[in-house]
Amino acid sequence: MNQQNDNTVLFGNGDELPSNRSDNPHINDLIGGLNRRQVLVGGAAMSALAFLGAALPGDAMAADTQARGNPFKPRSRLPFEAIPTGRADTISVPPGYKATPFIPWGTPITGRYPAFLDDASNSAQDQAEQVGMHHDGMHFFPIDARRGPGLRSDHGLLVLNHEYIDAPLLHPNGPTLVDGKRASAEEVRKEINAHGVSVVEIRRNVRGDWEVVPSRRNRRVTAATPMSIAGPARGNKLLQTRYSPNGTATRGTQNNCSNGFTPWGTYLTCEENWAGYFATRDSALPRELQRYGLRSSSRFGWETLPGDDFERFDATRKAADAKGDYRNEPNHFGWIVEIDPFDPDSTPIKRTALGRFAHEGLIFAPVKPGRPVVCYSGDDSQNEYIYKYVSRDKYRPGKANGRLLDDGTLYVGRFNADGSGDWLPLDLNDRNFLKACLAAGVAFADQGEVLINTRLAADVVGATRMDRPEWGAVNPDNGEVYFTLTNNTARTVADAANPRPANAYGHIIRWRENSRDHAGKRFDWNIFLLAGPEGDSRAPNGQPLGAQNILASPDGLWFDDEGRLWIQTDMSGSQLSAGPFGNNQMLVADPRSGELKRFLVGPLGAEVTGISATPDFRTLFVNIQHPGEGSTATNLLSTWPDGPGKRPRSSTVIVTREDGRRLL
Ligand code: FEO
Ligand code: CA
Ligand code: CA
Repeated sequence: MNQQNDNTVLFGNGDELPSNRSDNPHINDLIGGLNRRQVLVGGAAMSALAFLGAALPGDAMAADTQARGNPFKPRSRLPFEAIPTGRADTISVPPGYKATPFIPWGTPITGRYPAFLDDASNSAQDQAEQVGMHHDGMHFFPIDARRGPGLRSDHGLLVLNHEYIDAPLLHPNGPTLVDGKRASAEEVRKEINAHGVSVVEIRRNVRGDWEVVPSRRNRRVTAATPMSIAGPARGNKLLQTRYSPNGTATRGTQNNCSNGFTPWGTYLTCEENWAGYFATRDSALPRELQRYGLRSSSRFGWETLPGDDFERFDATRKAADAKGDYRNEPNHFGWIVEIDPFDPDSTPIKRTALGRFAHEGLIFAPVKPGRPVVCYSGDDSQNEYIYKYVSRDKYRPGKANGRLLDDGTLYVGRFNADGSGDWLPLDLNDRNFLKACLAAGVAFADQGEVLINTRLAADVVGATRMDRPEWGAVNPDNGEVYFTLTNNTARTVADAANPRPANAYGHIIRWRENSRDHAGKRFDWNIFLLAGPEGDSRAPNGQPLGAQNILASPDGLWFDDEGRLWIQTDMSGSQLSAGPFGNNQMLVADPRSGELKRFLVGPLGAEVTGISATPDFRTLFVNIQHPGEGSTATNLLSTWPDGPGKRPRSSTVIVTREDGRRLL
């Protein structure tokens, strides 16, 4: 989802308000002489920021072809016809490709397999047996991927997040309110069950079409599913609740935005804008609530109903201590949750060593036997940070498991003005961290408390405030890490890594770890793409963006096995309605050449997000979230995918070539 200005309204769909009031120096203050315009237009400044003093690959390619009068133009690795921007209520893909909706919200997958009812009159229990609402991050696990990558391309588990809900469409006539409060426990239960994750076994039938397999593996994880808490914060006194007096267990995951998947065949779901699900009437909030933007009212009002299932969303202090109320319930959220999709009876585990913030996703560096596991995660809120985790123990093929995510070092990124970067450890065993805490007058009782207060710990060490870090992806060609910075209109002072003072369009940053050691502490970075219209943008080849590739608010990001970068957008509001960009879209870039072309345009009011492919690259899975955003039962702003008169439904889309070959 994208940022809205007003997210205090019940059922608003916005992200959390910025809560970073730290006074970390902006890079602009440090660099002094580097002129913002130089950064924006590329040229000398961009070269200065390029890796190891080398020009960007795209720059080199552009200069090369220009110098030669273009006689040696290499074969494009993007051999499709770029499609134009558009505002149709459909999916558009290039000629020769087709896009087929698959498992939309409400598709029955387990239990009694209740059919979806067009008037949204399915019960809360039905919803617990159907695909959830608002598809987001997703991964295809080949059916033989139980402990490794897997090879099967005709049978697997599709696992996907359901980020949030549109309550006006989830119920026949929207939510029932009495005096501004929720009046129906059944409705709220349905909302809770529409959140979370779906595990869906799918197989190609004899005609080659993908179908849902009625399987015991099919599963819904919801905002009520029992979960355990692992890692350094397990059992911390700040995790004690009435449900779990010893702070080791919790219920549910929500606002699951992007995702990750482990080298050992499990799924990671990431809790992004979870703070708005809670309310507190306390006036003086502890730092672990204040720094995450807890407010006096929640987005959906779940806490206004009686009963433990709902009162847990009320973080107001009511009892003598934390074991008697839910003051600490918000501390159970903001984590990465590991789910074993192959074991429907497994308990999802919140991995606290990975930090607590508005996790967009989690992306692994390539694993090497005998080396630590390394992964990256962005905190998607205005002026928040990018993090890296390095496991203490080494990766051992066939033996590795989720415990690698319980013991390690969490670092936060500082992007220096000269194009270098530092990973700053947030670890009580690190002298520099202790010194920084002392200097800032901040104390943590133990590492669990550091992790529960990840944002504060990152403030203390002087991390770089970024323009809303979204997805990350690692280039299989060379190990470079790419991250989308979707936009940040709250920024007032530009810096080298966030070069627009009010960044309405977003950009993509990338870095290379020194000595190509992902576990190291130094890196070099540059800006891969400045999104925007023709007059205010910079393509990977150094040129302004044009008709075949203008975009704004890059969000989803994924590398295919051949090193092509797929970019998905999440524009909202005026960018969608009045900008030159049309509906949200997906593009493909070739970092080797700097080429960038639009591949898909989504339906009206939808975000394009979530992407995965079969190993043979003949099937691409893409998610379409919140088509017709803002619709009500009587005012449908989109009717995709079911057509006229039908409520819009978030849905996966299967993209294939008409001739059945590899996509590219
Ligand atoms: Fe849910 Fe950061 O987009
Ligand atoms: Ca977004
Ligand atoms: Ca997103």
